[in-house]
Amino acid sequence: MTDKLRSDWDPRSEGVLRNQRAAYDEMREHCPVAYSDIMQWSLFRHRDITRVLHDEDTFSSVVSQHLSIPNGMDPPEHKVYRHLIEPYFAPARMDAFEPSCREIIIELLDQVPAQSDVELMADIAQPYAVRVQCAFLGWPSSLYDPLVQWAHKNTEATRTGDRQAMSEIAREFEALVVDMLEVRRQDGAKPGDDITADLMYEKVWGRPLSHKEITSILRNWTVGEIGTISAAIGILVHYLAKHIEVQKRLREQPSLLPGAIDEILRIHGPLVANRRITTCPVEIGGRKISAGERISLNWISANRDGDVFDSPNSFRLDRDPTENLLYGAGIHVCPGAPLARMELLAVMEALFEHTEWIEAVAEKPAINAVYPASGFSSLPLRFTTTQ
Ligand code: HEM
Repeated sequence: MTDKLRSDWDPRSEGVLRNQRAAYDEMREHCPVAYSDIMQWSLFRHRDITRVLHDEDTFSSVVSQHLSIPNGMDPPEHKVYRHLIEPYFAPARMDAFEPSCREIIIELLDQVPAQSDVELMADIAQPYAVRVQCAFLGWPSSLYDPLVQWAHKNTEATRTGDRQAMSEIAREFEALVVDMLEVRRQDGAKPGDDITADLMYEKVWGRPLSHKEITSILRNWTVGEIGTISAAIGILVHYLAKHIEVQKRLREQPSLLPGAIDEILRIHGPLVANRRITTCPVEIGGRKISAGERISLNWISANRDGDVFDSPNSFRLDRDPTENLLYGAGIHVCPGAPLARMELLAVMEALFEHTEWIEAVAEKPAINAVYPASGFSSLPLRFTTTQ
């Protein structure tokens, strides 16, 4: 019997949307396993979420009938596709791709006029994420704007729960991928030409990947890239603008950047949540949950849990990195983490080279992004440049 008499909270209320971090902190303190009509169960505590991540028999990832590779899969199917995609994020590929990321961020920073105000999300974070994504896949620059528009529509449809819009958006992305595949087929593309061509030659269960499978793989990469990477860039740069002692320390010791990036993104997570569904009745935090119930794992909250992170709001480089759930844990741990880490480091290093100082603009406050996005929808900052 499910323990659900009424909603414990409203995930789409004005208060939650206005300041997601504060709202999730409040939930973790007062109702860490919470039911809502919209999302069913939400988990806010690090220990409850860790339990779910390591028990895929009880907490399935097959949360929808739509194909989602490998996010929406359980073992043994999940393992087959994981095995296929992991090499795309191998260290040698990351090393080879790093100079392209640097080139992209330097080109964007060079367009910023000296000593000026920057709208960080629109001028730097989003264009960087989409250009990197196209460079990674071998896609043309004519797709920059359509992909940004697609990602916005996708976020909006997820927020409003508009299923018809979601289907249309999925079809739109599939048409785009099919075009990319067709161009390569006509050009006689070979493996090694680019990642999109490589995927055309991949095999599962002894046969080539179908268009639907390639589309699903690329859709999940695109969401990881355009949604989460751009949110992460906004969060990182905003944090440095607001915490001058941290900015100063990292400028003096840039070798601290890799650990600092993961720590800042622990304090302010760029990804809100992922889902599971129960396969049998369970009890979590004293709440009884039936089989077939949806569970949302709130990453932002888990990483701010004071039971695991002493003074969770403090920036500290001596924390145990294995507790940080930024990239998840267990079999679904983010395969794109090496790419994400390399891209974020490239941005931060280039920003430090290009600027002497970054500060917030008092008269133009940042505007928080609303669920399902995290970070900022608008982030005006002042760059003091080195030119
Ligand atoms: C700062 C950036 C990123 C963050 C914080 C992040 C975070 C995460 C997290 C927490 C998960 C686990 C989801 C779960 O357990 O349900 C995940 C999975 C995943 N991420 Fe990322 N991610 C990022 C960037 C990327 C990028 C750049 C890509 C690909 C280009 C990517 C591709 C994926 C895929 C395919 C999965 C599903 C893995 C599976 O189900 O086995 N992510 N990510």
